[in-house]
Amino acid sequence: MKAHTVLPCGRSRMLFVLPSLVVLAWSGGGRAEESLLERDVLPILTKQCLGCHGGLRQQGKLDLRTVPAMLKGGKSGPAVKSGDLDASEMWARIANDDMPPHEKKLSAAEKAAIKQWIAAGLPTVAQRQQDDAPLLPAGSKHEPRQVAAAIDQHLDRALAAAKLSPAPRADDAEFLRRVYIDLTGRVPTAEQTAAFLDDAQPDKRVRLIDALLASPQFGEQFGRTWRDWICPPELPSDGNGGAQPHKQAQDLGVWLAARFNVGDGWNKITREILTVEGEIKTRPQVIFYGLVGEGGKATPDGSTRAVASLFLGVQLQCAQCHDDPYRSWAQTDHWALAAFFGKMTADFTKVTEPATNKGGAQISIPKTAFKNVGVNVPAAFLGGKHVAPPQDRSLRSALADWLTARDNPYFARAFANRVWFYFFARGLVNPIDDFRELNPPSHPGLMALLANEFAAADFDVKHLIRCVCNSEAYQRTSRVASGTSESATATLTTLFGRMPLRIMTADMLYDSLKLAYGDPKLDLRSPDTKNSSALGQAALVADPYLEFLRRFGTNEEDATDFTHGIPQMLTMLNHPRLLAGSKALEAYRKARPAASPEQTVEWLYLSTLSRRPSADESADAQRYLQKTNDPVKGFNGVLWMLVNRSEYLFVR
Ligand code: HEC
Ligand code: HEC
Repeated sequence: MKAHTVLPCGRSRMLFVLPSLVVLAWSGGGRAEESLLERDVLPILTKQCLGCHGGLRQQGKLDLRTVPAMLKGGKSGPAVKSGDLDASEMWARIANDDMPPHEKKLSAAEKAAIKQWIAAGLPTVAQRQQDDAPLLPAGSKHEPRQVAAAIDQHLDRALAAAKLSPAPRADDAEFLRRVYIDLTGRVPTAEQTAAFLDDAQPDKRVRLIDALLASPQFGEQFGRTWRDWICPPELPSDGNGGAQPHKQAQDLGVWLAARFNVGDGWNKITREILTVEGEIKTRPQVIFYGLVGEGGKATPDGSTRAVASLFLGVQLQCAQCHDDPYRSWAQTDHWALAAFFGKMTADFTKVTEPATNKGGAQISIPKTAFKNVGVNVPAAFLGGKHVAPPQDRSLRSALADWLTARDNPYFARAFANRVWFYFFARGLVNPIDDFRELNPPSHPGLMALLANEFAAADFDVKHLIRCVCNSEAYQRTSRVASGTSESATATLTTLFGRMPLRIMTADMLYDSLKLAYGDPKLDLRSPDTKNSSALGQAALVADPYLEFLRRFGTNEEDATDFTHGIPQMLTMLNHPRLLAGSKALEAYRKARPAASPEQTVEWLYLSTLSRRPSADESADAQRYLQKTNDPVKGFNGVLWMLVNRSEYLFVR
């Protein structure tokens, strides 16, 4: 593909993912073999044709991005005719390999997919999914258990169509550890684990979800999750004069944590970010604009990219300089939104904007966009008709009014999709910020259900999460039944019929280790780099937290990607601090002098793997303890082995 990324900014890796267009068309069991536009045809056209017949170039006056455009065709008439290969010029060209010189020919399988698609009458995934209703009425808020049941009904239907049965429910220990890590960012303590495992009440999962959502750690975990989405770990530092703005990013995380904990709606939080005024010292949200500019100043195109990706779930970055070659976004869509940022002045330290926008709002396409430079584009909301924003308000507040309205077509689903991605390591729409007609959700009814519910609940974040966590889907085991083929496992995972195995983020792992070692200041910096600026990382290693995040950072696009390598392994195996032993263990032994070796080993299992040891594991540990004469050394050795098990690193 000739895609390039000439963007000056490496802001978010997520922004540059090209559409995967992986779509599951699941309804109608027997149809698995048929060729569908979004799933089977567009990926081929994107790779082979859209560079010359897309938004940027329309050779032979032909645009192949959408079916209506194909039907309209080019110079010599329609490119396709439904059900009629002979009358489809596109097929004639493909069948005869009649392509410009140097272009790769299509493979036999690619040709077959396109041939079948035209012959079958140009079917789309969207047509196959059109009966997929949300199952609960839009416009009113429901009880979490009702929503959870509807979520399961959606998923079960798709699984049944694929002739797959969902994995069984996770046992209490697996569920407990997962929900603690997801909602509070760390494993449970031994006492919390034992209390839950020994609780015989049938509603204990529901109660636990409520309790965790009410704990301050919930906001902290969601605050740092959104902090990393807004300020990805490798930030462009241009906005901050070359320095990595770690402190300001932390401040944003703290600010977000407080918002989530008091239960502010996502609409309110988003408005406070979008319309921020003042200095970063007192308004941490300023970093949002501070990061998306050039030469130390925020730019309208940078702000547009970020707002589109984070709050609207769409990728406008390829429409900044020319119409998007692959998607249907026009350059004017990009600049009409950018016009809302035309009157503010923002840099890394502060944001200001006149309180009104007298004279109306339009923007002149700047030189940096290469094409249509100097053309004036009036402000307009995405996908809507041009309605001039009211002149008695600031442009950004007019934008926030539109964006955070309950009936905004983008806002609720963009957030709901990110929440889904957070728990299941995969969005209903993928990439999570590439919503558009030709990249439909895998489960459209479920996507609509979650977005409707979130909007009807006034964008209550905890409500949405409570609904998801109470579903059977969230509470299934990640274990795969023995004998299941790799491909069946993969389909089961993509259809959310089992929980994927995710790796703990650096934050989750760090907080869990702090707990295991009873050391809130746990310092795992390499002893040899501590005072070495030879690595050029003095500023980073000066702070144990930042150094941990740097070393144990995971793949933010794919939580199932095992990112630990030798440096991480060596830290876990050899770091003197981890070998020195646990203060939590010391405190436990002091408080429970009569605890038997078996009880102490059980306590260690509960505080790390969130379960009790099996009989074999227990016996192994006792044998090991007998060999080591010193009980302190022995128990710490057991702890060291536990945190070095791969089981420890995973959210199962
Ligand atoms: C490197 C650029 C390039 C690529 C890639 C390319 N084409 Fe073309 N295509 C052209 C040019 C130039 C013309 C006009 C000259 C001609 O008719 O051959 C054209 C013409 C056409 C036409 C006739 C349009 C009309 O109405 O006259 C069709 C149909 C077509 N291409 C289909 C395709 C398909 C399908 C692919 C991908 C499999 C593709 N092209 C890839 C450059 C390209
Ligand atoms: C900062 C401006 C800018 C941005 C942003 C941008 N492009 Fe481009 N792109 C250009 C320019 C300039 C050209 C050359 C246009 C021409 O030849 O008319 C170009 C050309 C292209 C071409 C044609 C290459 C060829 O020679 O056939 C493709 C494909 C393309 N861009 C894809 C993308 C994609 C995908 C994105 C988003 C990831 C993107 N562009 C973002 C400026 C940009």
